[in-house]
Amino acid sequence: MTYANSRIPASAQQGVHEHLAARVRTHLAQPFKKPLAGYNLAAYEQALAGWDGRAPLVLDAGCGVGHGSIELARTFPDHWVIGVDQSEDRLQRQKPYPAALLPKNLVFVRADLVDFWRLLAADGLRLARHYILYPNPWPKIGHLGRRWPAHPVFPFILRLGGTLECRSNWSVYVAEFAAALEIALGRAVPWGEYEAASPLTPFERKYRDSGQKLYRLCVDLDAAEAGK
Ligand SMILES: C[S@@+](CC[C@H](N)C(=O)[O-])C[C@H]1O[C@@H](n2cnc3c(N)ncnc32)[C@H](O)[C@@H]1O
Repeated sequence: MTYANSRIPASAQQGVHEHLAARVRTHLAQPFKKPLAGYNLAAYEQALAGWDGRAPLVLDAGCGVGHGSIELARTFPDHWVIGVDQSEDRLQRQKPYPAALLPKNLVFVRADLVDFWRLLAADGLRLARHYILYPNPWPKIGHLGRRWPAHPVFPFILRLGGTLECRSNWSVYVAEFAAALEIALGRAVPWGEYEAASPLTPFERKYRDSGQKLYRLCVDLDAAEAGK
């Protein structure tokens, strides 16, 4: 059996990266101008094609095989749920859910989030709920810039508003996410250990079943904005 033996990311980095704050401030101050790729624009249009323009939007960012997105669509039947992943292979592995049984308020698209987030923001769209569940941790110290809180796209994530939730099995990732949010929002963002009684995603199930601790932060960006 190789299922419940996944490892916590091994890293020489034990706490928030010493350069995180400077990176976040730079990204908040400077425009991010990387050109958009055509396939992401097409995916973006596909993601909104079935939306009625009124239903609150839910984004499952980095949805993997999409089981979490399916669960979210069932939990919020009056919302339009978008599952985005860059891996076509993962998106194709939605078993055991035949297409005919998928909720109707759900769409999956293959796209790079770096463009997808910016396209949503460029259209002024706001999310009701935004899930970043078990993002690739990039645990090497030198890979700081690949983690979402330290990536130039981070300010666009904030612009989308709504209730933003990040979960990881690497406490440093969530600590950095909270630290970046605190810099941007100017207020403390609590985070902590999380008991996944009913795992929402396959990675959550795998990590839990391997006996690992899970970490979570959840922040209402609209309330944070209103309180500014
Ligand atoms: C560790 S998996 C977690 C999948 C799922 N959220 C779960 O919890 O089971 C991280 C996912 O993020 C996706 N991903 C990483 N970088 C991405 C990007 N720039 N754009 C879209 N998806 C990305 C990967 O393809 C992968 O499926």
